[in-house]
Amino acid sequence: MKTPGVLLLLWSALVVVAAERGGLHVEATDAAAASTQQSYLSEFRAAQRQMIAQMAEQREELRLAKAQIEELKSGAVRPSNVAFSTSFSVKTDKHIGPLKTDTTLLFDCVFTNVGDAYDKTNGLFTAPRNGVYMFNYHIFAGGDHGAGAKLLKNKDQVVAAYNHVAPHDINTSQSVILQLQEGDTVSLLLEAGWWVAAYTGHLTTFSGHLLFA
Ligand SMILES: *[C@@H]1O[C@H](CO)[C@@H](O)[C@H](O)[C@H]1NC(C)=O
Repeated sequence: MKTPGVLLLLWSALVVVAAERGGLHVEATDAAAASTQQSYLSEFRAAQRQMIAQMAEQREELRLAKAQIEELKSGAVRPSNVAFSTSFSVKTDKHIGPLKTDTTLLFDCVFTNVGDAYDKTNGLFTAPRNGVYMFNYHIFAGGDHGAGAKLLKNKDQVVAAYNHVAPHDINTSQSVILQLQEGDTVSLLLEAGWWVAAYTGHLTTFSGHLLFA
């Protein structure tokens, strides 16, 4: 209440001074121009503030886009292509087994590992994303023992390929399509008493790939 009164007083004083100088009309016109200018200026400032805000928004969007590109380049994003193909790495022909306990087969010769989902140190394929995957394996072995392997999803058997003792070398294989959740593992288990051949010619293989996510 007090301030407008003071301002009014000041304004009146100015008007009086201006009138005394005989320039009341000129001064009034100047005042109107100044007030128009003032309103232009405040409009301009508002537009400027809006532009600055928009620029900040765009900078943030650009920053996010750049971060996403970096993430993609670093491969941290779940891969859309997943395929692995493996066998045993050996210098001379041998057999793995027969062993006393069920053992995960370590396919340590990796032909292909797109998406890096197969780990040759533990023999586990870990689904990097939800999807439908296909797995194939082929077992070659001498006929002196039962030969084969079970395919496990996490800890559970899904399928098996097996051949009884035979008077000749054997070949057995299996194939399965599984719907996996990200983090599910798939591996081949050599059952106690069975064996598989690990030959330099890579006759025993384990492979898989993502059919669709
Ligand atoms: C199994 O395949 C291998 C070659 O991959 C072959 O030498 C062997 O004779 C096959 N066994 C039988 C029973 O056909």
